[in-house]
Amino acid sequence: MSFQAEILAPSEANLERVADYLRGGQVVGVPTETVYGLAGNALDEAAVRKIFEVKGRPLIDPLIVHFSSLQAATKHAIFNDRALELVERFWPGALTLVLAKKPSIPDLVTAGMPSVAIRVPGHPVFHSLLEKLDFPLAAPSANPFGYVSPTLAEHVQATLGERIPAILDGGACQHGVESTIVDLRDPDTPKILRPGPISAEALGILSATITSSAKDDASAQSAPGMLTQHYSPRTPITLFNHGSQPRDSAENEAVIFNAKPETIIGSDVFWLSENGDLNEIAHNLFMLIQKLDAGSYARIHVERAAAYEIGVAVNDRLTRAAAKRL
Ligand code: TXA
Ligand code: MG
Repeated sequence: MSFQAEILAPSEANLERVADYLRGGQVVGVPTETVYGLAGNALDEAAVRKIFEVKGRPLIDPLIVHFSSLQAATKHAIFNDRALELVERFWPGALTLVLAKKPSIPDLVTAGMPSVAIRVPGHPVFHSLLEKLDFPLAAPSANPFGYVSPTLAEHVQATLGERIPAILDGGACQHGVESTIVDLRDPDTPKILRPGPISAEALGILSATITSSAKDDASAQSAPGMLTQHYSPRTPITLFNHGSQPRDSAENEAVIFNAKPETIIGSDVFWLSENGDLNEIAHNLFMLIQKLDAGSYARIHVERAAAYEIGVAVNDRLTRAAAKRL
């Protein structure tokens, strides 16, 4: 099959068209409040297999399943009281829960594990799409495996456009980094598997936090997909500390600061927000990296974010992007 994905405005007719693609077992690009997803029918093994193929993702890396409501999710996963408490506070939204799965979820979705990662997304376009369907959508981020996640429909078109029929346009993703993943199978010891827009502080599970960057690649296999070298653009990334300057930036290298610097030396200086607002930094991070990656810089120096709230997720993604050795 050869496609050139059309970017579709979220009109009622286009939502129906995308729903038809999904009912027919195709996979499509969808907007979420975190990053764009590559969605397919989570209950149809052939569609799920197509997701892995289109993304070039190894089958050992399980997918997140997206539902229109908690009620829909309870048919496929086993909730405990702690999970319901978090659902009450954070759904619909950027919180993914890992819970024990029910048999209705194909093993292919969970890489054979007895647990499933689930969320009810808050993006109104994605939500409307889910409401049209009588099945949930499995959706990883809509980037080729190992590359930076997409935050615009155009990012998806540029990388996966030849392999999917359509991308539903929902504008620039609000958060700009992937959802927070919390393993809640044991309600007494919740674990943050991936930091995201919903911070450890907000979740109130600071002490049990295990951020994936603290683990090595060997142990990451037990939480598949948390590999250190991830989110990497083609251009090598070097990090420098919050509040400092890059150590040795040279010509043909770009520098990205959190906030607009007081004095700007050279033309290859960029910033993620006017005044260092962490949500704005996250929102713009992948967008700016993808833009600069399309240029011809030999290296991109990026300032780490302040390490709290969504800044923890920003630093997690930056550390992975910088782990690539060329
Ligand atoms: O914001 C997001 O979460 C986006 C949007 C599209 O929803 N999705 C996303 O999916 O980031 P993906 O596939 O790029 O990342 C999902 C992560 C992977 O690292 C995977 O290993 C982990 O979730 N995961 C999935 N199922 C799991 C499970 N049962 N146990 C532990 N980790 C799991
Ligand atoms: Mg991803």
